[in-house]
Amino acid sequence: MYDDLRQLIDDVEKGGQLVRVNGAHWDVEIGTINEINVETRGKALLFDEIVDYPKGYRVCTNLLQIPLGMRLAFGIEEGKSDLEVIRDFKNRMAGYQPVKPRVVKDGPVLENVKTGDDVDMFAFPAPRWHEADGGRYIGTGTSVITRDPDTGWVNYGTYRSMIHTQNVISNYSSPGKHGTIHRNKYWKRGEACPVAMSFGSEGMLFGLSTMALPSGASELEVAGFLRGEPVDVIEGPVTGLPIPATAEIVVEGFAPVEQTMLEGPFGEWTGYYASGANQNPIMEVKAVYFRNDPIIYGQPPTKPVTSCWFPVPLHTAPTLWAGLEAAGISGIKGIYIHGPGERTFAVVSIEQQKPGHAMQVGSAAAALLTGGAMTGKFVVVVDEDVDPSDLKEVLWAISTRCDIETAMHVIPGFLDSGLDPSIPPHKRAAKDITMAKCIINACRPWHWKAQFPPLVKASVASKTSVMTKWPEAFTHLNREQYLSSQSDVVR
Ligand SMILES: Cc1cc2nc3c(=O)[nH]c(=O)nc-3n(C[C@H](O)[C@H](O)[C@H](O)COP(=O)(O)O)c2cc1C
Repeated sequence: MYDDLRQLIDDVEKGGQLVRVNGAHWDVEIGTINEINVETRGKALLFDEIVDYPKGYRVCTNLLQIPLGMRLAFGIEEGKSDLEVIRDFKNRMAGYQPVKPRVVKDGPVLENVKTGDDVDMFAFPAPRWHEADGGRYIGTGTSVITRDPDTGWVNYGTYRSMIHTQNVISNYSSPGKHGTIHRNKYWKRGEACPVAMSFGSEGMLFGLSTMALPSGASELEVAGFLRGEPVDVIEGPVTGLPIPATAEIVVEGFAPVEQTMLEGPFGEWTGYYASGANQNPIMEVKAVYFRNDPIIYGQPPTKPVTSCWFPVPLHTAPTLWAGLEAAGISGIKGIYIHGPGERTFAVVSIEQQKPGHAMQVGSAAAALLTGGAMTGKFVVVVDEDVDPSDLKEVLWAISTRCDIETAMHVIPGFLDSGLDPSIPPHKRAAKDITMAKCIINACRPWHWKAQFPPLVKASVASKTSVMTKWPEAFTHLNREQYLSSQSDVVR
């Protein structure tokens, strides 16, 4: 586990998975180099000697989107299957005990302090990532820190932020996000909302900021639990918010009541510019703290055909699995989430135990996958012999087990996101960002399961026999692992 972003960058470089790029321009060049690398499954990137900026003022991208970066950041053992990673994380979180952050007086983030008129957000090489973007986004790999004024609970959430002037940045957080809820609570009281933002936190803390943890669960405390030791924080002198002591760059300030500026357009995570430019809340920056030779961590969206979040859906699947179990639903064998952002196409495999079981699971999963952002737009339930992490297997099940007339269900009215390109213009104009979810029961139909055609497959005995006699035909397999994953069940 890491104390800061730099240690992770070093280890990814040692693993041969990082390229240094010198001399690129903050205006579109960094974004384009990143886009090509993300789309073609290239390496992590560390940009230095950025045009207009001193050597040492760096930007790092594609770090947690590559398997090595994600594995190191979350402390995931090598050699685990994607489904095992999800199961392990869910099981680890089942023992969750909050580990409160440790308040310290000093830390590397305070190496440089600028306040008042000395605040200058343009002092950092924030990229304009995509050609049609409306501005420079310092916050893409960011944690926005807010406190619930009623309960004191501190939330870290990843919401983009664009620079407007030397000391004004704006912030887009969707309806329903915890940061939005906190800000609205302050505004309802007629008070400016205290905000801090970190642009370069330790990898796992950043990762947790992008996850929909249950309301009231603090990312700082979850990070402490997963690390096995508290996260060091400094109480921000301006807001009192806990800021990570080892972060690269942190700003503190206030979001004044209902003050907005035109934010965007910004190339969005769906791969489109769907929401355009809008009036969004601003933050007046009162103080900036940064390390010597600071690194902006960037995770700007690109067309999400490769990972725009993490390569394995740690941010969605384990929470759903735990939620279904907490609701008392039995028979869950595996959960995976595919699609853009690893969030739109959920697959749950079950051992069917009773009539209606698949629909119970499908509808509960659809209900639990909330929080907007197209999460669980499609929910597919498959039998336990189908690996939910393997889309080819899932499509096989949908194509061969789903009686379309009776097993596809469209339920309207869920919170979606203004970023969903398929919201029709009339709904968008009425600010209606709800959308239906589609539940697909791709299990063998319960009532005639016993008559369902049997599978074409060799018995375990037959497989064991040939693998013993002709091991040379199976050198690409781990024999024990393969055989232990096989069964004689044919329907
Ligand atoms: C790289 C990245 C950028 C994101 N940008 C935004 C954003 O600009 N606005 C937003 O509302 N959610 C954004 N998200 C999604 C939220 O971070 C995610 O929904 C998270 O759960 C929010 O935290 P919360 O549940 O505490 O509100 C982004 C996620 C990632 C991975």
